[in-house]
Amino acid sequence: MTLSGQPGEHEGKQTMSIQTIGIIGAGAMGSGIAQACAVVGLNAVMQDVNDAALERGVRTVSGSLDRLLKKGTMSDAEKAAAMARIRATTRPEDLAAADLIIEAATENEALKIKILQNVDAIASENTIIATNTSSISITRLASAIKRPERFVGMHFFNPVPVMALVEIIRGLRTSDATVETVTELSTKLGKTPIGVKNSAGFVVNRILCPMINEAIFTLQDGLASVEEIDAGMRLGCNHPIGPLALCDLVGLDVELAVMEVLYNAFNDSKYRPAPLLKEMVDAGLLGRKTGRGFYDYKK
Ligand code: CAA
Repeated sequence: MTLSGQPGEHEGKQTMSIQTIGIIGAGAMGSGIAQACAVVGLNAVMQDVNDAALERGVRTVSGSLDRLLKKGTMSDAEKAAAMARIRATTRPEDLAAADLIIEAATENEALKIKILQNVDAIASENTIIATNTSSISITRLASAIKRPERFVGMHFFNPVPVMALVEIIRGLRTSDATVETVTELSTKLGKTPIGVKNSAGFVVNRILCPMINEAIFTLQDGLASVEEIDAGMRLGCNHPIGPLALCDLVGLDVELAVMEVLYNAFNDSKYRPAPLLKEMVDAGLLGRKTGRGFYDYKK
């Protein structure tokens, strides 16, 4: 017996043409992915649970495209055309016609499994289903799907319109055709795809999140101030922003969720989340999205 996704048993090797992308979640990642699709002429159907979340998502895309207008790299007509390619909906059934559905909901395994089971029930047989999880096992999430050979990880980076990378993560049963299709699509979106084996945190977050976590330990240990720690990594290592500012951008809840996945997966104390990180999440100080994290954005 061979597993699908391993040499010897694959659905056809041909890649699929992707024209319409369904996106679950209108937050920073979901709206960023919708924008990336729309600006290259693809249709995006962005689905979320309520109108307020969708309105915020559409506003984020509009504001992000306004930066391009201001710089003169996009015209009013191009912006209007891109916006017209994004359809916002609360109805999961509206995703049914998509060639590819990307789940970009909160980093919570039980929630993602539930969403994926619902998506699987409405998606057509040929639809590829992808997850933008930051850290959770693709093989385990694939267990929610009837056709795991058509399931894959597509990990985008925040802010999506600016960041050039997509990690393409293959689960144990992901087929070559699925990997090749989403790799081609990532290139079409203007991103550089890298292929990564399934493992907690994949490559980038396995390196990045422990670095941010360690920065929080240095703050907790009173080694330096928030500003000094960030200046240290900006000026000493040429990082574009410091690790604490980056944690605010990514979300402290996301950083904590990734550290917990790493800690549970590897059983190694080097991945233990900093107590200060946990406490700040408990206090609702999640970073930019709540107006306060290591920095205060309401000032
Ligand atoms: N939409 C469109 N364009 C944007 C944008 C947005 N949301 N945000 C910034 N930009 C553009 C700006 O227009 C500007 O463009 P030009 O250089 O062409 O003028 C450029 O990006 C730089 O922006 P700013 O001058 O406003 O600000 P900045 O110099 O501080 O750059 C940044 C912003 C690009 C986000 C930079 O701070 C940066 O690179 N930060 C690190 C981001 C990072 O590491 N992301 C990965 C997070 S980890 C992750 O996402 C994985 C996970 O699962 C947790």
